[in-house]
Amino acid sequence: MTQTLLRGRFLTFHREPENGDDTGAYTYIEDGGVLIRDGLIERAGDFADVAAQAPDAPVVDHRPHLMMAGFIDTHIHFPQVQVIASWGSQLLDWLNNYTFPEETRFASEEHSARMAAAFYDQLIDHGTTTAVAYCSVHKTSVEAFFCEASRRNMRMLGGKVLMDRNAPDGLRDTPQSGYDETKALIGDWHGKGRNGYVITPRFAITSTPEQMKMAQALAAEHPECHIQTHLSENKDEIAFTRELYPKARDYLDVYQSNGLLSDKTLLGHSIHLEPREIEAMAETGAHPVFCPTSNFFLGSGLFDDAGLRSRGIANGIATDVGAGTSYSMLQTLNEGYKVLQLQGQSLHPLQAFHWITRGNACVLGLEDQIGTLDAGTEADITILNACSTDAMALRMERAETLAEELFILQMMGDDRAVEEVYVSGAPQKQANRSVIAKVL
Ligand code: GUN
Ligand code: ZN
Repeated sequence: MTQTLLRGRFLTFHREPENGDDTGAYTYIEDGGVLIRDGLIERAGDFADVAAQAPDAPVVDHRPHLMMAGFIDTHIHFPQVQVIASWGSQLLDWLNNYTFPEETRFASEEHSARMAAAFYDQLIDHGTTTAVAYCSVHKTSVEAFFCEASRRNMRMLGGKVLMDRNAPDGLRDTPQSGYDETKALIGDWHGKGRNGYVITPRFAITSTPEQMKMAQALAAEHPECHIQTHLSENKDEIAFTRELYPKARDYLDVYQSNGLLSDKTLLGHSIHLEPREIEAMAETGAHPVFCPTSNFFLGSGLFDDAGLRSRGIANGIATDVGAGTSYSMLQTLNEGYKVLQLQGQSLHPLQAFHWITRGNACVLGLEDQIGTLDAGTEADITILNACSTDAMALRMERAETLAEELFILQMMGDDRAVEEVYVSGAPQKQANRSVIAKVL
């Protein structure tokens, strides 16, 4: 039995705050304690109370920093760590010119292993403890992805992209090989440790109707797995999809008519939507995923968060690296705030921090495991410092409330604001840093 007691300012959410005054939605404690035992949160609350129950536990004092649940990124591309910040085009050219050539390199076990270590170092540096990732078409990339997650004991979700057309040699599977490899990977990795397999038809353009049918079979045979794909990110993408699937009622119908929509489905981007598509999302419980830095970077468009929420739809929020320009969920909130501002919508900091923790956990149906500091959940914890740069410290001199502090983190914070990260109760920021990543 190993116990550790973290001391610091404590913030956790119980539900989404309705507004900035909704104090019942969260617990904030000036001198808080989180008792960790064997990778789980055993007890949390006032430091004095928690310490009295565990007088022998070693204490790690993080005061005056803020302890909260580790961040959750619901859409990211593992093989794009060397694509981020590639200049100059919108989605389809960006895929063809930069992304697809780079992803062909993940046929190599050695390259995949090196990139996996670097990828997890980046997540940890930025305070992200769970991500839902696209791997490449190659089995090797998925093996590296889950191997490294297992080594670090991180709760990670991901899968091999299914793609059998409109992609270069070395980056296509076939309906049968995509099915067989996915099946084998689910058997090898799903539910092993903290790993979750995600059935991943990349998007309509890169899958033939035959492959979509295979994805349908996989989803029906494995209802325990999440499903992820891209939807209505870019107008040229939508026009090409309509040509490729002329019988579909709209873009979403390509997925819906193949039985791919449920509350376990994540639909990256979901920007240019038809009313019927929105109704279908509301009916099936599928989740649009907002990718603000990516949508700005590729000039894709503005995500209508309030419009979707008004239909009772629960949206995820994510980085979408490598079209996304930062691994930081804080920077993602920063850009997300501006997207909503452009549409006369709002994002209060309490809602923002709920979103990147418990909110994204709820989208994944994993709120009993991650996303809060509740007793019994997994001890994935991020420690934040709102004075991590001179500019932030200066601004913090004038901050009087928790909401103001959170907003400073949301607008100005990045990896420098992440003091420490615990995964399954173990400190990561220095401890697990890979030698490989250092020599990149
Ligand atoms: N649509 C299909 N593949 C991708 C991808 O890798 N990134 C983004 N942003 N959109 C996609
Ligand atoms: Zn994406």
